[in-house]
Amino acid sequence: MSEHTFIMVKPDGVARGLVGEVISRFERKGLTLERIRKLDIDEALARRHYAEHVDKPFFPELLEFITSGPVVAMQWSGEEAISVCRTLMGATDPKKAEVGTIRGDLGLAVTNNLVHGSDGPESAARELEIFFG
Ligand code: RTP
Ligand code: MG
Repeated sequence: MSEHTFIMVKPDGVARGLVGEVISRFERKGLTLERIRKLDIDEALARRHYAEHVDKPFFPELLEFITSGPVVAMQWSGEEAISVCRTLMGATDPKKAEVGTIRGDLGLAVTNNLVHGSDGPESAARELEIFFG
């Protein structure tokens, strides 16, 4: 079934010049890039996007990081795009992410882990609405 998902290159990925690398991996998989925009995330937007995490102990660090520089927000589509993108991204902690995944190949630290991807159909719809209306 074709799905839409929300993908974001986080500030570390943008600062390290890895936007093209991330896009290339999703394109080569056969997914379709439908919308893209570069923006700065302020505290209000971060709290909205990461609403499920605002009370977690790691949230202050996540907030500091996600507001530290521009991000690249995208809509991708394709067959089972939500789970396919999560698989391509790898585990949350890049140290544990499998080689061959974006985080496994390119990252080391759990906070600045390069990329965000929606974790289900409801979060995909919610996040696409937040960033693209
Ligand atoms: P994301 O939402 O960014 O796609 O990542 P995820 O589903 O793999 O991980 P999630 O549990 O939703 O966590 C959101 C982001 O918060 C940071 N984090 N830091 N220090 C920590 O223990 C910790 N845990 C999570 C990461 O940036 C993670 O991607
Ligand atoms: Mg998540």
